Amino acid sequence: MTAVSTRLLQLPKAELHLHIEGTLEPGLVFALARRNGVDLPYRDEAELRGKYSFNNLQSFLDLYYDCMAVLTTRQDFADLARSYYGKAREQGVRHVEMFFDPQAHVRRGVDFDDIVDGLNQAIAEAWTDHGISGGLILSFLRDEPLESAESVWDRAKERPERFIAVGLDSAEAGFPPARFGPIFAQARALGLNAVAHAGEEGPPSYIWEALDELNVDRIDHGIRALEDDDLVRRLVREAIPLTVCPLSNVRLGCVPDLASHRLPEMLAKGLVVTVNSDDPAYFGGYVGDNFVALDAAFGLDEATAARLARNSVLASFATSDRKNELMALVDSWEAQA
Ligand code: ADE
Ligand code: ZN
Repeated sequence: MTAVSTRLLQLPKAELHLHIEGTLEPGLVFALARRNGVDLPYRDEAELRGKYSFNNLQSFLDLYYDCMAVLTTRQDFADLARSYYGKAREQGVRHVEMFFDPQAHVRRGVDFDDIVDGLNQAIAEAWTDHGISGGLILSFLRDEPLESAESVWDRAKERPERFIAVGLDSAEAGFPPARFGPIFAQARALGLNAVAHAGEEGPPSYIWEALDELNVDRIDHGIRALEDDDLVRRLVREAIPLTVCPLSNVRLGCVPDLASHRLPEMLAKGLVVTVNSDDPAYFGGYVGDNFVALDAAFGLDEATAARLARNSVLASFATSDRKNELMALVDSWEAQA
């Protein structure tokens, strides 16, 4: 590990775009399969890793949903998140806003409360054990029938304080956001924040729609915003954060390679960009690794790295006291240069 990598891993940062199911490493897939008596269609971890070659979002999602079969109990969800926090600590992560996909579990017969309470248990422990703050983002699968989203939402709204936000993910192209408007309006009325994946594979019009019809606070990915100058002007004017995931974009073929990623141009245009990992077990790195990879591709100077970390803090849903603490940590990282 080079001195620069160590320094970027130490940079205090918030992770705002992380699917907890996307942290399921092959070792844990097999351990949970043994614990739960689940038969896997892969002989061993090496064979599973051999499947980690994707040509688009759907080819990844197929494997992502298949591997979730090993997650069945409340303890499985708590263990998954605990295992993630062990990694997060080594990556400089001080705050995590974690997506989970309840529909993908409930449709397999898993109890909604087991998922939520297991994850929230690990989130509470992360604060006491590691000083990592954060919360859960309940994400709806945009490619499933609306009734499936409505039925998990009916469970979620009984105790909305268990979530910090609602989100929208899964296969994007052909699944515009607008039909989720009524659920998002209810979530907002209950005091939840709102985010949506848009402009990953889908067109810029989906970003407009997420802003206008879902009233989102942030856009997840949003890289295709660059195709629409009016949209870029709006995102800059309204300071809407974009949670960009560079290694994910490369692995899913949204950009050809890291050197061609337009993140530097996004920053130059004044967009509020943050760097995130998306599904780190599948895409070759956690959030700190994304910073290190950007440095290898572009040469990330300290001021830009600190700007990205500050963006992540300011774009988060942390309380203002917590944001002040995190900003002070970034200040002292920069002062140690
Ligand atoms: N679910 C998990 N990862 C995702 C991604 N990159 N895009 C959409 N849905 C997802
Ligand atoms: Zn994502």
